[in-house]
Amino acid sequence: MNKKFLDLGYQPLANKYLKSYKRLSLKKGELFKLSVNFNTETKLVSLLKKIPDKKMFDGEYPYKSSMSKTMLNSFKKLSIKIKRKFKPKLFLEIGSNDGALIQNFSKDNVVCVEPCSNLAKITKKKGYTTFNDYWNLSLAKKIKSKLNNIDVIYSANTLTHINNLDDVFKSISYLLDKNGILIIEDPSFLECIKKVSYDQFYNEHLYVFSALAVKHLIKKYDLIIFDIENLSTHGGSLRYYIKKSNNKKFKVKKSVSIQLTKEIKFGLHKLSTYQKFGKSAAKSKHNLVRILKNLKKNDHKIIGYGATAKATTVLNYCGIDENIIDYFVDTTPDKINKFMPGKAIKIYKYNKKLLNHINYIFLGAWNFKDEIFKKERLFIKRGGKFITHVPYPRIL
Ligand code: TMP
Repeated sequence: MNKKFLDLGYQPLANKYLKSYKRLSLKKGELFKLSVNFNTETKLVSLLKKIPDKKMFDGEYPYKSSMSKTMLNSFKKLSIKIKRKFKPKLFLEIGSNDGALIQNFSKDNVVCVEPCSNLAKITKKKGYTTFNDYWNLSLAKKIKSKLNNIDVIYSANTLTHINNLDDVFKSISYLLDKNGILIIEDPSFLECIKKVSYDQFYNEHLYVFSALAVKHLIKKYDLIIFDIENLSTHGGSLRYYIKKSNNKKFKVKKSVSIQLTKEIKFGLHKLSTYQKFGKSAAKSKHNLVRILKNLKKNDHKIIGYGATAKATTVLNYCGIDENIIDYFVDTTPDKINKFMPGKAIKIYKYNKKLLNHINYIFLGAWNFKDEIFKKERLFIKRGGKFITHVPYPRIL
């Protein structure tokens, strides 16, 4: 049974950065209610109202995985591991974005699937076989008719964006070689709840997975998890290694039962744990607004760093507007000179000079804290402070 445990109010589409500010209208469908459910049987956490794919993933998708050194390093390390351990004959990535991972593989044994045409163009141009399409069974059939023996399928931060998860795993099971493996990585719900990072929820993140939910989801398609790795990316993610249940090549590792036990110990199988999380999010909102308003009372200028989709959830949930945050800085070209979704807060191209005379910065990209703190050593040295809401609102 689905039970609502979190209400993040009315929100705009998170990755729609507009060139000029306009007040969004509920009537015109520019805002939607962001509420989150827990399914007491399947343990799956999902948004109550799901936005159609085509409204979110189009030819102007601004997010590029290659913008972050952290992600590039993580993908490089993973590609070495995949080549060494699994020696793929044919590697397929679902949601290949701008090719941040596949650039580590030879063009001859990689297939990219990417629905956003602006991103698919990038990997095509680099010479990689790219299907500019949404992942589903008809695409899997089309690929199988042209290419056989796909023995490694990989997908990072993508499957949680697709509404029909049954179709997702059915298609994977259909296309994957009998001795092949599926590797998926996505934000971990356990980390999300521990960090009270309610901003993992925005219209694109239709689901935030726990290992408990993934185990249940894939069972129907004869797939089982045989290894799990904990990653620090995206605020704490899990990388699941999955195989067909009759694949004897890989033994189920202890890491699987360790993660499942951790989740049960934390109570991720119980509704009450999720209800507590809903209350913690409301408390986090109250305390973050209090900190920001106090700084404004004392005439401090505050800017934002990292115009993330997560920051959009925070701004719109907490009612933080241009009277509190003057502007954001970001490195992503497609976000620059646009406005934070739903807010009259402009995003400027990152430039160290924009931090001059600023003493307080709201960390929108808190998941890249280490990378950003390293980059902004001088700001911190001269007494500049970052404000975060994760795991609880505070000035760092
Ligand atoms: P994400 O949290 O959704 O991955 O987005 C990270 C955003 O933060 C992306 O727009 C790039 C931006 N960013 C910076 O502007 N500067 C940085 O140093 C880092 C690491 C990210």
